[in-house]
Amino acid sequence: MSKVCIVGAHNTKFGSFVQRNKETGEITDVLSLYELLVEAARGAVGDSGIDPKEIDGIWIGSFAPAMFTNQDHLGPLALEAFPEAFRFKPTKRVEGACASGSMAIFDAIYAIESGRFRNILVVGVEKMNLLKTLGVTHTLAGASHWPSEGAEGMTFPALFAEYAKGYRDHYKLGDDEFRRILATCAAQMYANGLENPLAHFGKGGPSDKLGLVTAEAILGLPEDRNPIVADPLRLHDCSLVSDGAAAVVLSSADAARSRKGPAVEISGIGHSTERLAIKDRANMHELIAAKRAVAEAFKEAGVTSKDLDAVEVHDCFTINQVLCTEALGLSADGQAGKDYLAGRFGPRDRCPVNLSGGLKAKGHPVGATGVSMHAMLYKQMTGTPIGATRAMGLPGVCATLNVGGSAATNAVSVLKRIL
Ligand code: COA
Repeated sequence: MSKVCIVGAHNTKFGSFVQRNKETGEITDVLSLYELLVEAARGAVGDSGIDPKEIDGIWIGSFAPAMFTNQDHLGPLALEAFPEAFRFKPTKRVEGACASGSMAIFDAIYAIESGRFRNILVVGVEKMNLLKTLGVTHTLAGASHWPSEGAEGMTFPALFAEYAKGYRDHYKLGDDEFRRILATCAAQMYANGLENPLAHFGKGGPSDKLGLVTAEAILGLPEDRNPIVADPLRLHDCSLVSDGAAAVVLSSADAARSRKGPAVEISGIGHSTERLAIKDRANMHELIAAKRAVAEAFKEAGVTSKDLDAVEVHDCFTINQVLCTEALGLSADGQAGKDYLAGRFGPRDRCPVNLSGGLKAKGHPVGATGVSMHAMLYKQMTGTPIGATRAMGLPGVCATLNVGGSAATNAVSVLKRIL
């Protein structure tokens, strides 16, 4: 199968880009959906060095723009990046909850593999903070099985709390040990995020001010600074509600080779779906469908977990960082928590996890996340890292694991630098 390459990438700053009037409650947008989308699109095309006229189509990943901002039908908005060059090009939006970005990338890969397209721009975008937390929680719950979960008041923290309890109980972890595992994951992400100038919780941000770069610091917070959100998950186990966008330019291998500049091949992909309602799942201590996606992607790319030099995983909640680490085979089942406690997977590790700071520190504008994972690894692999860097040198083989909903949609890419 002809492989598709990433030849350019851009990530906007992630954050909460609104101003709230404390007296009136009025919310003012200071960096809109439209601006984020255009910045990411222009940045990635500029980074690729490809003439915008040579972009054959634009695919947008976004989860729920109409719920968050009243704006649906994002495809045509992409034209605003290069109105002359992009006018009349095909555009579309792709949705797969928090994996919308990877779904858009996969659709673009299929389009290029078909031979009909040579270069496709993929943008992931979400503007979440125009809504207050209640509205965000309600909107996100649309990615759950509504009758048995959302409608019953089951929030996303609550859904992943079921995985947290499932993992803790299956592997017979004590409460204190389990809490320390989760705090270790969060602290590691906050530490990596300090190196990422685009992170929502970066230098000078809330986690930095509180010095939350060790498990001790998180565990030592007073109850009201780290309250339980959905037992056993606390505030610092939850990803951030972020605004942001990311974009990559994908090219056929031929098109990538015909230009000057680096190229990272998407050597294998895996896409696997789990039953939406968690009541229908076989167990709650592993990501069964994600493991299948990993196996597919590894097989296509001809790699094993031992070949991976860096990964970006979907730490929407700290427990999912643990589960993703096991799904990728970086730790044996039941072992990832202990591996994190032992100090594994930081920038000095053979295979660092989330050098960007992950969803916990970089932020999680849901529809942008999958594209951001690819963009961040592209930057790491091509020697222009944004975020912490791998002490053992440039990563040559990387993987993303992006999940949608309560890991119902699972998307894995294996990336290899070829130019
Ligand atoms: N992690 C750490 N700190 C957070 C945080 C998070 N996820 N969310 C907010 N904070 C901090 C804020 O910076 C603020 O700090 P300050 O008091 O020092 O200014 C404080 O907590 C209160 O912020 P606020 O926005 O009022 O928090 P909230 O209680 O409304 O929201 C959550 C907290 C956990 C409910 C929200 O972040 C959330 O829903 N996260 C999960 C998002 C999600 O489910 N995404 C999809 C995953 S599949």
